[in-house]
Amino acid sequence: MSEDLEGIENKVVRAPLVEAMATALKNPTYQFHIPGHTKGNGVYKPFKDLVGERLLALDTTDEFDNLGTLNPPTGPIKEAELLASKAFGSQRTFFLLNGSTIGNLALAMGTTQRGQKVIVNRNCHRSILTGLIMSGAEPIWVLPDKIDDWSIWGRISPDAIEKALSENEDVACVWVTNPTYEGIVSDIAGISSVCKRYNVPLFVDEAHGCLWNFSDKLPIPALKQGADAVVHSLHKTGGSMSQTSMLHVARKDSRIDIEVLERTLKLLHTTSPSLLLLTSLDAARAHLESEEGQEQIEKAISNANYLKQEIDKMDSVHYLNYEYTDPTKVFIKVDGLSGTSLEMILEHDYNIEVESASDIGILILSNLGNDLSDFKYLVNCLKEIDKTDYTEHPIIDKKKHMPMLTPQIKMRLRDAYFAPKELINKYDAVGRISAEVVAECPPGIAILLPGELITEEHLPYLKTYKELEVIK
Ligand SMILES: Cc1ncc(COP(=O)(O)O)c(C=O)c1O
Repeated sequence: MSEDLEGIENKVVRAPLVEAMATALKNPTYQFHIPGHTKGNGVYKPFKDLVGERLLALDTTDEFDNLGTLNPPTGPIKEAELLASKAFGSQRTFFLLNGSTIGNLALAMGTTQRGQKVIVNRNCHRSILTGLIMSGAEPIWVLPDKIDDWSIWGRISPDAIEKALSENEDVACVWVTNPTYEGIVSDIAGISSVCKRYNVPLFVDEAHGCLWNFSDKLPIPALKQGADAVVHSLHKTGGSMSQTSMLHVARKDSRIDIEVLERTLKLLHTTSPSLLLLTSLDAARAHLESEEGQEQIEKAISNANYLKQEIDKMDSVHYLNYEYTDPTKVFIKVDGLSGTSLEMILEHDYNIEVESASDIGILILSNLGNDLSDFKYLVNCLKEIDKTDYTEHPIIDKKKHMPMLTPQIKMRLRDAYFAPKELINKYDAVGRISAEVVAECPPGIAILLPGELITEEHLPYLKTYKELEVIK
C-alpha cells in the first residue's frame, strides 16, 4: 500500500470520492440494483421532502457507478483511503462504518486470542469490552489517576502500564484511551516506550482526538508517538457524518498483521456500505487539510480559550483547568448545581444543548462548525446563571455518572457473558456476579462488566436501573 502512496498527487487538496460521487450524480444510469428506493423514487414522500431529492439520489452502495468497493478497497474508495493514510501518517488507513466501535472490535478480534491478556484502562469504551468478549482475551485493568474534584478519570501513567506488563505474561497488547471523554491527555510517548521495551503492541483509542493531527496547538497524535494502531471517530470532531470513523495502522515498526486486520474488518463490516457516509470521510479529511479547515481548527481552539477566559471572570462558574487537556473540550461546573441541573437549565431556559452532563458538570465541545457568536451567547447565559440564586428550586441529582470503581473480577469476561444468567432486582444483585456490560452513553464506560462482583458501591451509579443480569 505504501508504494501506492507515492503515486498520488496531493499538492492541492483532493477528495476523489467526492469527485466520483459528483460524476455519478451527473451521469445517472438505468438502475436495477440496491438500494431499492432507486434514487429516492421509492421513498415515503414526507421523508423525501425532509431530506431532499439530491441526498437520496446520492444514497448508493459500493460496486456501482464506478465508485469502487470498500472490502477490499478499490477505485475512488481506495484512493480516498490512501489520501487519508497519507494525511494521518499511517501505513494503512481503513474507512469504518459503525464508528470507532467496529475499529475496536476488529482490533480485538484480529489481534488478540482467547486466554491472552490485554492491558487496558478501566475507563475504556464499551466497544473494547465487546471486542474482548468476542475474542476471549482477558482484560488486565489499569487504573488511571483520579481527578476527585471533578469526579473523572485522569492520566494513565507509564509506570502503571510497566507494572502490569511486568506482572503478566502472554500480553497481546496494551490498549489505552487517549484523550478521555473529558479531554484528559496521557503520556503516550512514555507508554509507547514501555511497550516497545516489552515488545508488546500499543493500541490507542483516540476516538475523540482526530483533529490533533492537523494542528500543533493540539496534543501530539498517538501515531506520531509510537502507537501501533489508532482509531479515530471522524464523526465526533472531524466533520464527517455520524458513524464514520477511521482505523490507522502505524507507518513504522507496526507489530500488527494488516492482512489479518483487513480480513477481520471484512467479517464485521456491512456488505452494503453507504457511499454517502464513506464520501463524508473523504470530505472530512480533505476539509481538515484545506485552508478553511485549518482556520476552523484555529477558531475552535480560540473560541474555547475565549470561553475559559470569560469563565475566569465569574464567581460560581468554573472550568477544569488541568495541564494535560485537549483545549477544545471545556468541562464546566457551577457551585450549588449538579451538572445535570445545569444541563437542564441551559436546555430549558436558554435552548442550549451540551455534549454531556455528569453529577458534577457539563462538557462543552468547541467544534469546527461553531462560531464565536455561539460562544458569546453561551458566555452571556453562564453570566446570568452565575448571578442567579438557584437554592429555592434546586434540582438535585443523586445519580453518580462516571464509573470510578476498581472492578473485582470473579469470572472471565467471555465465560461470564455466555454463562446461564437471570434478571433480578438490583438490590438483590449485590454480592452476585454481573453477566452483562452495564454502560451508559455517553460516556460508554462500563459501570459493570461480565464477571465483575456487584457491590453496594455500584448502586449510586445504577439509579435508573431496576434489574440487573447476573450469573445464575
Ligand atoms: C473513547 C471512545 N472510544 C470509542 C467510542 C466509540 O465510537 P463510535 O461512536 O464512533 O462508535 C467512543 C464513543 O463515544 C468513545 O468515547
